[in-house]
Amino acid sequence: MIDHLLTRETVKAQQAVQILIVDDHRDNLLALEAVLSPLGHRILRAQSGGGALKILLEEEIALMLLDVTMPDIDGYAVAELIRGRPANRDTPIIFITANPKSASAAFKGYSVGAVDYIFKPVSADVVISKVNVFVDLYGRSRALKRQAEDLRSAHDALDLRVRERTEQLARANHRLRAVIDQRRRAEAERADLLLREQRARREAERVNRTKDEFLATLSHELRTPLNAMLGWAQLLETGQLDPDRLRHAVNVIKNNALAQKQLIEDILDVSRIVNGKMMLKMSSVDVRAIIDSALDTLRPAAEAKRITITTDVAAVPETCGDRDRLQQIVWNLLSNAIKFTARDGRVEVRVENLGADLRISVSDDGRGIAPDFLPHIFDRFSQADSTMTRGHGGLGLGMAIVRHLVELHGGTVHAESEGENRGATFTVTLPIRAYEAPVEPQLPPPPQGSEQEVDWTELPRLDGLAVLVVDNEVDARQIAAAVLAEKGATVTEAASADEALELAARGEFDLIVSDIAMPVTDGYEMMRRLRQGSCRFVPAIALTACVAPDDIASALSAGYQGYVPKPLSAAALIQTAAMVTFEARATAHDRRRPAAMSHARTEPSPVSEI
Ligand SMILES: Nc1ncnc2c1ncn2[C@@H]1O[C@H](COP(=O)(O)OP(=O)(O)OP(=O)(O)O)[C@@H](O)[C@H]1O
Ligand SMILES: [Mg+2]
Repeated sequence: MIDHLLTRETVKAQQAVQILIVDDHRDNLLALEAVLSPLGHRILRAQSGGGALKILLEEEIALMLLDVTMPDIDGYAVAELIRGRPANRDTPIIFITANPKSASAAFKGYSVGAVDYIFKPVSADVVISKVNVFVDLYGRSRALKRQAEDLRSAHDALDLRVRERTEQLARANHRLRAVIDQRRRAEAERADLLLREQRARREAERVNRTKDEFLATLSHELRTPLNAMLGWAQLLETGQLDPDRLRHAVNVIKNNALAQKQLIEDILDVSRIVNGKMMLKMSSVDVRAIIDSALDTLRPAAEAKRITITTDVAAVPETCGDRDRLQQIVWNLLSNAIKFTARDGRVEVRVENLGADLRISVSDDGRGIAPDFLPHIFDRFSQADSTMTRGHGGLGLGMAIVRHLVELHGGTVHAESEGENRGATFTVTLPIRAYEAPVEPQLPPPPQGSEQEVDWTELPRLDGLAVLVVDNEVDARQIAAAVLAEKGATVTEAASADEALELAARGEFDLIVSDIAMPVTDGYEMMRRLRQGSCRFVPAIALTACVAPDDIASALSAGYQGYVPKPLSAAALIQTAAMVTFEARATAHDRRRPAAMSHARTEPSPVSEI
């Protein structure tokens, strides 16, 4: 069946593959195998369609040579079955047939997937060359497939790399963005810091400027009353003033000294505020009485400018507050309203009962407040006009003190003005609270007596009272001595605590009046030593510029029975002197009486009779 003429060229070196030959005749199979064996491929044989399919299931076949005519299933049916398997859809099939003439048979073969025909009798060359072609094709398609696989895996690797790189880039981008954000935030913070620093510097410069202006204002304000006092003192010195002018001179000196005292008190208040030492002395207060009293004090100033003051005061219950400090608040608001309102202007004082709170408002139709100054109105040393050419006096402390005092009372204060020359309204809101007396008794307030309020002739006399006045400052000592002597006391002066201790050891005194702050031995130490010696029961008054509750408590515990603040109020000194000597005599009287009687105190007799 097979023509065995093989040429050398037909046997090409190829990669060994598996070729399946299918024929029901064993001889044909062997003959075909013999033809193909020189090609070096592995030849698998099947004698039936079923056998062929079985091999295809297990082996990878590069080419099939399939006999068409077989007894069980013919080659076409086998081909159809093979093509049904995805793995063999492209396996080339060469039909071997003895029927070369039939076009329909050939067509049938192609339709079931034949790629070629070999006609019987089979020529070895034809078989080999055809097999070579298809094995070649198979090899190439395998190579292509490998390439495609390599390409795919290269693509996959590239894809993976790209994905990894993209993720890396995304992460780097994220980090970069975070760094940029952080940098931006840092820049914004730096800019903000710079802005705040600039603002703080501007504010510090403003405060500094205000302080400089304040110092200039302060020296001016302190010099103004001094000027009047010195001028009139010089005139008094001449001894040429008639009684009217003399009275006028004394009044001017006194009023200016009081004005200066007020300035110093304001400065001390501010210092107390700054040091957190401002204390309130609470009691039950009648706000209407406070308003009336402030109005009474300021009415002459308003009348001098023909300013009309109207009041609209609602009924408000008594509330818990510091009477003097509340009066200071109202006085400051009202005095500003009068000060900053032109002649013939109007000022209105209103008190409203809001239920839980009471509201005090002071309005005027005066100079008004510029919008850019309004936020600073409650600052210390702050004045809309702080130039030397300004029309009004003052240190710019009143409103700062007012705000602090109002806040200490648990209230609020605010200022309104529609602008310059459009008037101003100050509103204080205070909670209405019932006063509850503290369990611990409070210290008595320092005596407030002032020459303006007390008639000299109505003050008690101190005839026969032997008083030791101790002060290292000669002027202070002499004025205290003069005031006491003026009321009939016999006064001995000591310029130091040590001198006082010596005098006390030698003489008998009914009263000691002494300064506290003195060089070498201070008033506290002196008093302790006096209390251990002959002056155990002699009443003593501290004459001091320190009247904070702590200072007063220290003075009392050192052995003083009373205290009088400096600058000296003659009335306060006389009243306190009369009071402590009276009490000392009453106590001495009690000490001498039988114990059963000691609770009954004698009626106070006039001091002049002591
Ligand atoms: N009723 C008002 N009308 C217009 N301006 C006012 C009024 N009250 C206060 N001011 C402005 O507020 C500033 C501060 O007031 P404040 O009472 O603190 O100081 P002062 O009155 O100038 O001085 P001091 O009260 O210390 O004697 C005043 O200098 C003034 O410019
Ligand atoms: Mg004021």
